Amino acid sequence: MCGIVGYLGEKDAEKIIIEGLKKLEYRGYDSAGLACKIGDSVKILKCKGRLSNLEELFEKDPSSAPIAIGHTRWATHGEPSDVNSHPHFNSSKKIAVVHNGIIENYHSIKTELIQKGVKFVSETDTEVIPHLIDSFYDGDLLAAVQKAVRLLRGSFAIAVISADSDEIVAARKESPLVIGVGDGDYYVASDVLAALSYTKRFYYPENGDVIRISKKNGIEIFDASGNAVVREEKYVNISADAATKCGYDHFMLKEINEQPDACANTILRYCYDNNISLDLKNIKDLSRYNKIYIVACGTAYHAGLIGKIAIEKYFKIPVTVDIASEFRYYSPFVDDRSIVILISQSGETADTLAALRNSKEAGAYVLSITNVVGSTVARESDDVITTIAGPEIAVASTKAFTTQVVALFLVALYFGRISGNISDSQFDECMDELEKIPEKVREVLKNTDIIKQEAMHIKDYDQLFYIGRGCDRVIGMEGALKLKEISYIYTEAFPAGEMKHGPIALIQKDTPAIAIITQKDLAEKTISNIKELKARGAYVIAIASEITEELEKTVDKIIPVPEAFGILVAVPAILPCQLLAYYASIFRGNDVDKPRNLAKSVTVE
Ligand code: G6P
Repeated sequence: MCGIVGYLGEKDAEKIIIEGLKKLEYRGYDSAGLACKIGDSVKILKCKGRLSNLEELFEKDPSSAPIAIGHTRWATHGEPSDVNSHPHFNSSKKIAVVHNGIIENYHSIKTELIQKGVKFVSETDTEVIPHLIDSFYDGDLLAAVQKAVRLLRGSFAIAVISADSDEIVAARKESPLVIGVGDGDYYVASDVLAALSYTKRFYYPENGDVIRISKKNGIEIFDASGNAVVREEKYVNISADAATKCGYDHFMLKEINEQPDACANTILRYCYDNNISLDLKNIKDLSRYNKIYIVACGTAYHAGLIGKIAIEKYFKIPVTVDIASEFRYYSPFVDDRSIVILISQSGETADTLAALRNSKEAGAYVLSITNVVGSTVARESDDVITTIAGPEIAVASTKAFTTQVVALFLVALYFGRISGNISDSQFDECMDELEKIPEKVREVLKNTDIIKQEAMHIKDYDQLFYIGRGCDRVIGMEGALKLKEISYIYTEAFPAGEMKHGPIALIQKDTPAIAIITQKDLAEKTISNIKELKARGAYVIAIASEITEELEKTVDKIIPVPEAFGILVAVPAILPCQLLAYYASIFRGNDVDKPRNLAKSVTVE
């Protein structure tokens, strides 16, 4: 995690760094810092806590430098503290470094440097980098960085400045890094969002690249062997507004409300004239594949569990859904007859990336579903489906989930049609139903009063259960994750029929439980399970599209959601879960967009 930014040009570099870091806070917010070149020295300002603390420091000690680098941190090595904040200096305080990633062999490098007399001040892995660069430095910063990064194992995106030169040297391996080209000025960042207000022209350096940026020579890129290389400049068509709250109190609320458009745009991107074109250039004849793995983390994993239902139904091939951090170490049957579908909003999640690489090595066809064009997962996959959700900033994922479900539904239909497992009339019906989804999401958004009321009710409890069957169970899993992440209410989701095998022991008078009921054929069964909870005193809220008299008699409250076709019901039905978590978080006084201990982009293992 962590976010890095750099600027070189005529503008006020520190202000640009602080503005850029604001856009990257989703990557971590334990501490923040910046380094700028002033005359023949490098000045560092850094402190523990939110970026606003750094802003205060800057206001007390302002300067106007042409070159600066900055960092927002999600702690890995060493607690969040002033001294562990980035940037880090070498001993003479002439070389400053910001880093995103983890240096796996930092311990051995540190030991060697200590033996040579270097004194370390922080507990971070990062601090080895400025000292290592220093040990190779003879006036040529680029050469010193090139030599240093060859010795680093692990993942890194770094930006380096030195008191002796007017340049920024950056490098990347595994961690994301983009270089923006402005009007005679240049930007370095973990994500285009940090520089979108200034430019839409970006380079995406490859693994192992080292980049020198200077007024004199502009951008020079060198590959891992030190050869000068040309990388393609890309135009990023995202509005700078996408990274602002646009009048909403929080990014999460904005993103929840963007879901009708996000789903519609994802559908429009791949559907023409009642047909689907996924543009999968590298897939072989479908008949050669005999199994599918869907691999992801967090919310994306839940989207995968829902996608499995549709893919098995329409493509009629077994689908295994696994968590990337598990799959990367245990997936013995992946081979050249496997399709591995990776889902990742950011396209940078370290475990998902490792799963991707293992799968490719095992000969599988790798298809990714990501929300970030040009992300590492997107670049390394055989083919990519991009969800058109726009940047997602809030740590709790919302619009990424709904667009991932839409994308997986498209994959299921597409494979179903090509393999001949789905009839034309079935296909047409699915397409018609898919088109109605954005409107159904809008419908839920129109009636949020009852959701707010129920959020007010649950906010005072420390534990809560979601129950459901089939697709409803998975909607509950995602609902439970949302509540945990931002309201800190301990929430678990159980298959409704499993409660009696253990979890029901936790039900006491007034324990809140939320039942999801959207599946006609399973509704009665779930209602029976609700009765078992009611008999033990639970307060039960139903999020339901299947509203029967029996249900009304059984539960304490019903939050209605529109009926929808097959797995697509997960899209409108997740909205009340997202909003319940959002309002419960607000009512408990939490920081919704930046929940404790979390970060959005998890680029470490
Ligand atoms: C983090 C985020 C989650 C997200 C997960 C996977 O844990 O907080 O919201 O679902 O990473 O992220 P990805 O970018 O791979 O979808």
